[in-house]
Amino acid sequence: MKTIRIDCKDSYDVIISNDILANLETYIRRVYKGKKAFIITDNEVFSLHIDSLLSQFKEIDARVITIKSGEETKNIDTVLDIINKLMDYKVEKTDLLISFGGGVITDITGFVASILFRGMNYINIPTTLLADVDASVGGKCGVDYKNIKNVIGTFKEPLMVLIDPKFLLTLKKDELKNGFGEVVKHALINDNGLLENLNNGTFQVEDIIYLNILTKYRFIKDDLYDNNERMMLNFGHTFGHVIELKHHVKHGVAVLSGILCALDLGINLKVTDISLKNQVLDIYKKLNLDYLEVNYKDYLELIKTDKKNRDGSLNFILLTDLYKPIIYKVMGDELWTL
Ligand code: GLY
Repeated sequence: MKTIRIDCKDSYDVIISNDILANLETYIRRVYKGKKAFIITDNEVFSLHIDSLLSQFKEIDARVITIKSGEETKNIDTVLDIINKLMDYKVEKTDLLISFGGGVITDITGFVASILFRGMNYINIPTTLLADVDASVGGKCGVDYKNIKNVIGTFKEPLMVLIDPKFLLTLKKDELKNGFGEVVKHALINDNGLLENLNNGTFQVEDIIYLNILTKYRFIKDDLYDNNERMMLNFGHTFGHVIELKHHVKHGVAVLSGILCALDLGINLKVTDISLKNQVLDIYKKLNLDYLEVNYKDYLELIKTDKKNRDGSLNFILLTDLYKPIIYKVMGDELWTL
């Protein structure tokens, strides 16, 4: 078992252990003493795991709200749909919400928890690699709107994150690969042994999740609200988000392609050495990861509408070297010179 104590605005434990499912209520009882919980999940996770999850609730009365799986569901209508169901169940502010699923479920549940009654408590039980290593930690939650990812959202930290790596055993191969966009991103921006682990190919899943969360924590701990260091976690995402929307590819594929765009931009601007791109491509090959071969210039127009534009300028995250991300600010008009 590994525990990481996150201390940002709130403090909470991220627990990674193979015994979580078998002792779920005991873990939840560490932070929640009430009687009612509402589990928000999607139809795929429901059919695979809900019986084993529900069988763990003895003292807590747990109800399940199920939404359709997939990124298309991550919208404001689904949020209202969940709130309507919670109200039908006579939810109270002091009840607990539990997200049980991948990144979409984590983001939506956190968002509902942040707006309903001006704030409820929630716990994350992620079931995908992507949610384990990224979405479940850090309190970013929200939905897509008008074709812009996560443009409506809030920061709401969970009471606890319970990661049981056993859930990954039932993931489809492409969903497992989907998480590797974030894993490779973390490995490239922080020097904590993750990259060596990936390169050696001898990693234990629990260790990989642990190292990812340590990296995420490094960047969020002094910047929960995403104004400085946390922006480094956007490496590969400025391009990745628009690639995902334009080509309808999985988030992981989009991020891995976006990382290559950011490296190409850095090379063009003489910030990044070309050898770094070759190292990154070697990692993709070693891990058998999928990505698109794209030209970053084709996405600049779309990036102009990205939510991360600030004061008429755009922030690109570039790498000056391995583990050395920087924020490269570009004013609106300069965009066409990149
Ligand atoms: N996924 C990037 C962040 O949490 O800031």
